[in-house]
Amino acid sequence: MLIKRAQMFKASEITDPTLYFNRREFMVGAAALALFPRGAEAAAPPAGQPLKATRNTAFSLSDPATKFESATTYNNFYEFGVDKGDPSRLAHTLKPRPWTVQVDGHVAKPKTYDIDELLKLFPLEERVYALRCVEGWSMVIPWIGFPLASLLKRVEPTGQAKFVEFTTLMDPEQFPAQRKSVLNLSPIEWPYVEGLRLDEAMHPLALLTVGMYGQVLPNQNGAPIRVVLPWKYGFKSAKSIVRIRLVSSQPKSTWEKAAPNEYGFFSNVNPEVDHPRWSQASERRIGEFLRRKTLKFNGYADQIASLYAGMDLRKYY
Ligand code: MTE
Repeated sequence: MLIKRAQMFKASEITDPTLYFNRREFMVGAAALALFPRGAEAAAPPAGQPLKATRNTAFSLSDPATKFESATTYNNFYEFGVDKGDPSRLAHTLKPRPWTVQVDGHVAKPKTYDIDELLKLFPLEERVYALRCVEGWSMVIPWIGFPLASLLKRVEPTGQAKFVEFTTLMDPEQFPAQRKSVLNLSPIEWPYVEGLRLDEAMHPLALLTVGMYGQVLPNQNGAPIRVVLPWKYGFKSAKSIVRIRLVSSQPKSTWEKAAPNEYGFFSNVNPEVDHPRWSQASERRIGEFLRRKTLKFNGYADQIASLYAGMDLRKYY
């Protein structure tokens, strides 16, 4: 992303991933949920609560998964700061319950869903996807979620719906970098906004994600719900979303606003189109030593390329 302007926070402890698997914590959390089922007192499900899902083999890579520890301590989540370690160090301030997702705009049945209600609506799938960051690294992660299309179909987009806009929670109490004092140091405007064309959003690969590695999504990875779009650069996959709006014109995404010549609306992974400041021809898979060649559409060309047939991908980067 943009060159780091400042180290906003001092590095200190990093959450021990073994904690995520602590069964005792899970039992305590489950008891708390039973005592305070809903409303302001509702307890957040402890990070690491197991989450059952059926592996979708048709949509899963066979590449070995990146280590859980790397996937949860090397993150981009600018609401916590610009350093890769900031999200895991500071994400305890994010409260993934209570949480709602407003789905509205050009739809016949707009609705604000409570996250737990949403989780009951669709069967959860596990999909092993590689996430390729625009900065030149990638990770392979077993995500858990359900197709974005399932939710969109439920609210019945009208003929005027041409694009989908995602908005991340705006709350400086929970996201320290959204506070005014540090806002000036941030290269981006809050809240974080991303967008897709409706046909991209309806593609079966687009996943609304609530978990990873067999458990509830850790805060630093975008709890309680985020998008994962494996054929696009990672920044298109907005985290901790509170609103999904169906709109008639192309939304302005956060990174497009920050640097339009560097981050286009489409941002499909494309080794043939360099970022103005670096090549996109290769990537470093976190945990591997040698760089590997980046694949067009991040390896999903067979499924995805037809969405962009006839488009000049140098112009629509
Ligand atoms: N979503 C929000 N709200 N804020 C962010 O800063 N960073 C993006 C994306 N989603 C970001 C975000 C970028 S640049 C990447 S590469 C991925 O999240 C990283 O996801 P991960 O930390 O789960 O690997």
